[in-house]
Amino acid sequence: MAVTTFANHKGGVGKTDEVEGTAAELAIRGRRVLAVDLDPQGNLSRRMGYQEHELAERPTIAEALRDQSERTLRASFLPCQWEPEWAGRITLVPSRIELEERIAEAGVPLSWQRLANCLGPVAAEFDDVLIDTPPTIGHLLHLALVASRHVVGVTTPTYDAVRGIYRLKAFIENEKQRAGLGLECRMIGVVINMKRTNVVTHEERTDALIGRFGDLVWQPALPLRASVEDAGERAEPPQNAGKEIRDIFTARVDSYLKATGA
Ligand SMILES: Nc1ncnc2c1ncn2[C@@H]1O[C@H](COP(=O)(O)OP(=O)(O)OP(=O)(O)O)[C@@H](O)[C@H]1O
Ligand SMILES: [Mg+2]
Repeated sequence: MAVTTFANHKGGVGKTDEVEGTAAELAIRGRRVLAVDLDPQGNLSRRMGYQEHELAERPTIAEALRDQSERTLRASFLPCQWEPEWAGRITLVPSRIELEERIAEAGVPLSWQRLANCLGPVAAEFDDVLIDTPPTIGHLLHLALVASRHVVGVTTPTYDAVRGIYRLKAFIENEKQRAGLGLECRMIGVVINMKRTNVVTHEERTDALIGRFGDLVWQPALPLRASVEDAGERAEPPQNAGKEIRDIFTARVDSYLKATGA
């Protein structure tokens, strides 16, 4: 079982999209996936089929963390609403805005272990646990990193987003942070999303990333396509945007499985 966090300090770079596409491809291959929405925006929850009002009266990740309870975490489980013959293998831990309240508890000793504590006993029932995170390097990301073995950086080929990846990697590798939070994760890949053709700065940023990270950058980049955004709007996986996008997630999941040793 592999627990992987998808992250960037920069927002809107395609983190949730990457979690969706990875979950879909893994499930198509027959793997059991737990997709954890650790973002108070609840974008992953909505795109896997659940509107905010449908989550109002039931447990979500916010209550599981509050209770530090495996039982509450299990009670939050929902089936992903995509094509049932394979998406039936994807279980969602949904999120809603109340997750913001957990941030205020960051000063409580060992609060950063809360996700690891409630995820630990259930993670072994899945082949892959994928954690979608908000654009922060604060408490919610700490929760995800403490619970994870692997980290995938998601970025657009743009200056500020790439800087977010450098900052994320430095944070994960900082000895003081590793010791203080008890981090055991390492970065296994960086993926580029929303790349445009014939844009010089996009080529330059891509080259800079490859120059710095080498094979850690999983190829190919995902192009900017209105069809990917449309799929997200319709609460469908990015694969529904067509063969070009499906093939890219096939290649990425090959890289993911190689890196996680699965
Ligand atoms: N390759 C793409 N082409 C076009 N639109 C895309 C592509 N990938 C993602 N999008 C769209 O861009 C928007 C941002 O993507 P997404 O929500 O996955 O980013 P994010 O990093 O998770 O954002 P946040 O930081 O707010 O959580 C969404 O509307 C999504 O559907
Ligand atoms: Mg997101």
